[in-house]
Amino acid sequence: MDREELIAAARGARDRAYAPYSRFRVGCALLAESGAVYTGCNVENASYGLTICAERVAVVKAVEAGERQFVRLALASDAQTPAAPCGACREVMAEFAPSLRIESVAPDGTSCEWTLDMLLPARFELPEAEVSS
Ligand code: THU
Repeated sequence: MDREELIAAARGARDRAYAPYSRFRVGCALLAESGAVYTGCNVENASYGLTICAERVAVVKAVEAGERQFVRLALASDAQTPAAPCGACREVMAEFAPSLRIESVAPDGTSCEWTLDMLLPARFELPEAEVSS
């Protein structure tokens, strides 16, 4: 799966976003180390706080499918400038891939790339002894 294909998958997911309240559609495509790709879109709710972001949908789908290792994430939204992932999604992605490469694209193709540790330099972690899989 090359860069262009991952971006195309993120745009496809964005087109399936359920965003009747904000009208801000987000899609992403998460490439796992296995080579499989997991897409996500934002799914809003009339009780606004129940909305789930595209990135968290993709991570949850991937983990449920048995994935724990991730390589890259492509993000596509309707914003004129490439949107960065929200703080909550940064924490969720960092649980599995603290150095994940993230590329965000605007509709006109403008793109921006970060690593997750640039976006979230000091994530929350429990002391080692308390973590079990
Ligand atoms: N949203 C995402 O899907 N990902 C983010 O990283 C930030 C925000 C969604 C949530 C909501 O449906 C809409 O964008 C506006 O906040």
